[in-house]
Parts: sequence; C-alpha cells; structure tokens
Amino acid sequence: MLIAPSMLACDFRRIGEEANRALQAGADWLHLDVMDGSFVDNISFGPDICAAIRHSVPDGAFLDAHLMIDAPDHYLPRFVKAGMNMITIHVEREGHVDLHATLAAIRSAGIQCGLAVNPATPVEKVLPYLAEVDMILVMSVVPGFGGQSFMSEVLDKVRRLRDEREAAGLSFIIQMDGGIGATQAPLCRDAGADCLVAGSSTFKAPDMAEAIRSMK
Ligand code: DX5
Ligand code: ZN
Repeated sequence: MLIAPSMLACDFRRIGEEANRALQAGADWLHLDVMDGSFVDNISFGPDICAAIRHSVPDGAFLDAHLMIDAPDHYLPRFVKAGMNMITIHVEREGHVDLHATLAAIRSAGIQCGLAVNPATPVEKVLPYLAEVDMILVMSVVPGFGGQSFMSEVLDKVRRLRDEREAAGLSFIIQMDGGIGATQAPLCRDAGADCLVAGSSTFKAPDMAEAIRSMK
C-alpha cells in the first residue's frame, strides 16, 4: 500500500521542511492539492509552490499533483515545469476540457496521469478513460477541504474499478483521497485501493512515522 500524505494538512509556514518530514516518516509519495477557488470552494497553492516543494526534497521523491481546477489543460505546462511525477485531473470537467487530449499531453510530457472522480459522480464516467491513465483517484470526501469524514459508500466504486481493471487486463493504480486514517485503511485495501492519500491523519499525528506504519 502506497501512502501519500497530503501537503494541504502541513504547516505552510515551513512547507519544505514539512515535505521532508513526511518523506523521513516513510511517505511513499507526497500529494499536492491544487485548488483554484472555482472548481472547489477553496484556494490552496499553485505551480510556484509545487516547484518550491520539488526544490526542497531529494531528487527521487515522487510528487503527486491533484488538480482541482477548472482549466487543467491551460495550466498543465506550468505543473510539468514544476517537476511533478503524477498529474491528476477531474472527470467532472468533461465537456469543458478535452480529457483525452489532456491525459495524452501529461503522458507525452513524460509524467504519469490520473483521473479523479468525486463522490457524487458515477464511476461509469471514468470507464472510457481506463486504458489511458496510470491512476484513477476515487474521492472519499467532497473535495475542497482537509479534515472531513470518510464516505464509505465510495468503496463500491473501488471494487468496480478493481473488477474492470482485471477484466480488461489493465494496470492502473487505484488511489483514494479524503478522511483516511488507520481505521479506514483496511476497508480501502479490501476494496482494492493501492494508494491512500492522508492529510490530517499524518501531518497532525503526534508521531507521523507511526501513523504511516499503521496505515500500511
Ligand atoms: C480534499 C483533498 C484531500 C484532502 C486530504 O479536497 O483532495 O487530499 O485534503 O485530507 P484529509 O486526509 O485530512 O481528508
Ligand atoms: Zn487530494
């Protein structure tokens, strides 16, 4: 199980040190939540802060950018330049953004691509893209804020994606994001998740290494 602490829950006054604290505590990836105040009701940080995190961590650190923004196609080159390893866009922008083209553009930049699905969006919306992605992100909260409660009803989507993956002989990762800690991790694993994003339960834990170990 890959554990990706969300930088949204860190102490922003010293974001570079916080990134390294998570890596030293055993984080597999760092999850960077980008919010534009339009796609979601919150504003977090953009490509310049992502680049600052890149420059603060060792070269091999895996940076997973989750773009909760209206125009991921327009801003994509800036996140590529910021040195991200994975860029995830939202299926809810279908019809406004050419998702097939944007996923292809991420891959042609030599970066892994992900597609996220909100709790209220049926999992069927992502099925046409499964052969084009490295990861599907199943949101287990309504995106916008850290510290919300896990929505266990989304586990059905994870099971469905695991079955679809096997039936089609594909190998995309299934990530879950929102409200996840040691209590929820086994449910996510049993449903078929490969990677868990965890903000509050890691950065706000008294012992982050222990928090990550207990989720693994
Ligand atoms: C929600 C974000 C998540 C979330 C994780 O919009 O995508 O990454 O902040 O934080 P916790 O683990 O606190 O729910
Ligand atoms: Zn996220």
